[in-house]
Amino acid sequence: MTSLSPLRVVQMTDAHLFANESQRLLGLPTLESFQAVLDQLNSLEHKPDLILLTGDLSQDGTPESYQKLQRWLTPLNIPTYWLPGNHDFLPAMEQVLDDRVISPEKSFEAGGWHFLLLNSQVSGCVHGYLTRETLNWLDQHLRALRNRPTLVGLHHPPFAVGSDWLDGSTLKNPEELFAVLDRHPQVKLVLFGHIHQEYSQQRRQVQYLGTPSTCIQFEPGSEDFALGDECPGFRLLHLYPDGRWWTVVKRTSYSHQLDLAARGY
Ligand SMILES: [Fe+2]
Repeated sequence: MTSLSPLRVVQMTDAHLFANESQRLLGLPTLESFQAVLDQLNSLEHKPDLILLTGDLSQDGTPESYQKLQRWLTPLNIPTYWLPGNHDFLPAMEQVLDDRVISPEKSFEAGGWHFLLLNSQVSGCVHGYLTRETLNWLDQHLRALRNRPTLVGLHHPPFAVGSDWLDGSTLKNPEELFAVLDRHPQVKLVLFGHIHQEYSQQRRQVQYLGTPSTCIQFEPGSEDFALGDECPGFRLLHLYPDGRWWTVVKRTSYSHQLDLAARGY
């Protein structure tokens, strides 16, 4: 790789897979839409260098649901890293999502960038929270990596996104995260999932990016729970070794009749 070539990173999030392949979430077969997203990923002009999975990978938290994910991702042969969301069951993830391609590492380097992946899960709750231990871990790593452009990932957004029902389940202690990031100007990007929609917000030197789910989409700006009619997708990022970056959200043409009467997200 020359100093001018970017690292091509794909963020996929909120796959909500089930042990049972044909099971649906609000009428949508989540494995089928995940496969449509993978088809689109495979049709990119350049093969990605790295995949980040930012939580809610399973809807039922079963080892079998993570095995489905693994079965589809491992053959791509793209180094893949993950973090848990509120729907995930961490022990099952750790057991399954660890092979020659999928790594459980939470601190790693690629293309001149450093990556730090956080667990914002609160057992039994939908909202997120970063423990003192996690914040200290983040601070220590950032202190040791002072000059390297850094991307931080977590499941929950550290901002309200303008949707009352979703804003009750964002990260509960964003100020504590900001206090750490403010001490480390090498942090350029924070990526998250959870909100099933595209989102972008700048705070100081950091761009905070939310990404569509690979299954159902939530309607941006809706006070109450509402599904959006945009198609599933992923985020592509180009990261340059000098700290510059570029990003775009890609959406599939996959559509499926949703069951709007169904609840249970
Ligand atoms: Fe979530």
